Amino acid sequence: MAEKIIIDTDPGQDDALAILLALASPELDVLGIVAAAGNVPLSLTNVNIRKICELAGRPDIKVFAGCSQPMDGALVTAEHVHGATGLDGADLPEPTMPLQDQHGVDFIIETLRNKQAGTVTICTLGPLTNLGKALAKEPEIAGRIRQIVLMGGGCFEGGNITPAAEFNIYVDPQAAAVVFGSGVPIVMMPLDVTHKTLTTRARVEAIRRIGGHFSEVLVGWLDYFERFDVAKYGSEGGPLHDPNVIAYLLKPELYSGRLCNVEIETESELTKGMTVTDWWGVSGRPKNAMFMRDVDADGFYALLTERLAALAAKQADARAETT
Ligand code: RIB
Ligand code: CA
Repeated sequence: MAEKIIIDTDPGQDDALAILLALASPELDVLGIVAAAGNVPLSLTNVNIRKICELAGRPDIKVFAGCSQPMDGALVTAEHVHGATGLDGADLPEPTMPLQDQHGVDFIIETLRNKQAGTVTICTLGPLTNLGKALAKEPEIAGRIRQIVLMGGGCFEGGNITPAAEFNIYVDPQAAAVVFGSGVPIVMMPLDVTHKTLTTRARVEAIRRIGGHFSEVLVGWLDYFERFDVAKYGSEGGPLHDPNVIAYLLKPELYSGRLCNVEIETESELTKGMTVTDWWGVSGRPKNAMFMRDVDADGFYALLTERLAALAAKQADARAETT
C-alpha cells in the first residue's frame, strides 16, 4: 500500500526536485500539495507548484493555496537565493491546471479527518504556517497524523538566514512552536544533514545525462540555486535541502540521527527561530523530534537521479503514445 502524503511547500528549486521525486515514486500517494509563503510570496508558490506538476505530467494533482502571511509579523522571503520567480534558472509555461478553491489549511484538516487515523504523513518543505494553523484550528487532528517529516532547523551547523536560525523556522517561529509542541512524531531534516547533500558537478552532470527538456530544466534550476551558497560557503555545490524529506520516506536507511528535545525560540530578536536542540540530553525535556545528523549523500543522489530518470522515461513513453 502506497504511503499517503500531503506536501506543504514554498517552491523554490530544491522544493521542485522534492516534489518531482515524490511524483516519480510509486511508494508514495500524493493526496495534495499545499502552497506555503516562504521563498517567494504565496501568489508565486501556488503557480510554481502547478508548473512543477505539469512538468511531471501530473495535471491531476490537487494543489491548494495556504496562508499568505506567517502567524505573527511580516513575511520574510528569499529571492536572493531562488530568484524573483522562485524557480529562476529555467522558464516553464504558465500552468493550465486549476488551483483548488478550498483553503490549504482546511484541506489538511479535512483530509486528516476523512482518512483513517495514523495513515497520512505530512511533508513540510517550507515555513510551518499552514500546518501550525491547522493544528491550532483543530487540535484533534494531531492524533490522526502518522508523522511529520520536515526540512528545517539546525544545531551544530547553526543557521542560514541568521546566525541562529534556519529559514523555514525563522519565517514563522510561532507556527514551528505549535508543530514541535503538538506531540506528533517528527522527523527533522536540518541543515546538519542538508549541508552534506551538495550539488557537486559530478552529481549535476549525472542529472544532465538523463537528457531531454526535463533534465535541461532540472540542471538550469540546480545551476541557479547553488550559486548563492557556493559563494557564501565556498563549497563544491549547494545544499539540496528539501528532497531529503522525500528520500527519507523512500530509503530511511540513508539517514541517522537521535531522538532529542527540540524547542523553538519565539521571543528573542537575536535568536528568533532557533531550534534549540538538546542533542546531549541535558534538559530533561521530552524528546519530541528525531534530529537527523548524517546522510549517505551518494546514496541520496543515486536515488534522486534514478527516480528522476524514470519519470523522464515515463513522460517520453507517454509522448510517443500520443504521436
Ligand atoms: O533553509 C532552507 C529551506 O528554506 C529550504 O526549504 C528552502 O527551499 C527554503 O524554503
Ligand atoms: Ca522549501
